[in-house]
Amino acid sequence: MSDSSNQKENKRSEQQPLQHVDQWQDFVEQQVYPEPHKKKHSEYRNYDNPARECVREFYRLNHRYQTFEFVLQKEEEFLNLERRQMTMFESLEFLNTLVDDSDPDIDLDQLQHLLQTAEAIRADGHEDWFVLAGFVHDLGKVLCLFDEPQWAVVGDTFPVGCRFSDRIVYSEFFADNPDFVDPRYNTQLGVYERNCGLRKVHMSWGHDEYLYHVMKDFLPEPALYMIRYHSFYAWHREGEYDWLCDDHDREMLRWVKKFNPYDLYTKCPVKPDWHELRPYYENLFAKYLPATLQF
Ligand SMILES: [Fe+2]
Ligand SMILES: [Fe+2]
Repeated sequence: MSDSSNQKENKRSEQQPLQHVDQWQDFVEQQVYPEPHKKKHSEYRNYDNPARECVREFYRLNHRYQTFEFVLQKEEEFLNLERRQMTMFESLEFLNTLVDDSDPDIDLDQLQHLLQTAEAIRADGHEDWFVLAGFVHDLGKVLCLFDEPQWAVVGDTFPVGCRFSDRIVYSEFFADNPDFVDPRYNTQLGVYERNCGLRKVHMSWGHDEYLYHVMKDFLPEPALYMIRYHSFYAWHREGEYDWLCDDHDREMLRWVKKFNPYDLYTKCPVKPDWHELRPYYENLFAKYLPATLQF
């Protein structure tokens, strides 16, 4: 290997500590917010410490590098949505190239996670736009395929430009974030006004915010909140950051909370049959979405 490809390899493994892109969420589900009737897994899956180390390392990078300035730069880079035009099916196919074989106990690819989330919502008799929100909520992970590092695609999200809540998972790693000691950004409100509304708040960069912009003209408001804030655990599970919210956010919070269990707790070993279900979803896409989406 040449020196430069060696360096590239090193950089890559430094930036991609997770063995698969949803490993952080398995950790969140099993260690931080287990299902109500379940105990926290004392062992993280069947991995032992190396997996915990991957997740820790992932959060270390995420919390260190998600600064206010970084977020503004990513918004500028991606939110013009001029990268790629794809139909829903093309975007699903694209996302599915993220399939990972190293997962020991679930044979789930990204399409299966979306399908299982959406089918669980449908089985509970919710409205079709809620089902659609379930189906698309993680499509923003295509960012990985634009060569973005994991820590800038997945993970819990949180406001930047103001003090980091200590209720965020592994919040101790924020000590390495330059904003932590920057007086512009380390007060409760930072660059924001009290109760300004979350729409004025810059969230750490990742798949939630990105997909919100892809979908914002097409879905009802509660569905957009589910997409935009589904990884904002400090808000929807910990009750933090109310000081940045307005009444509209508080009204929408119940939808975000309603969505979360479908995202976390619907993994099932029996895969829904995509070929059988496809016509239903084709109709659903046609009802709400344009033929091609701008990414
Ligand atoms: Fe997600
Ligand atoms: Fe998800």
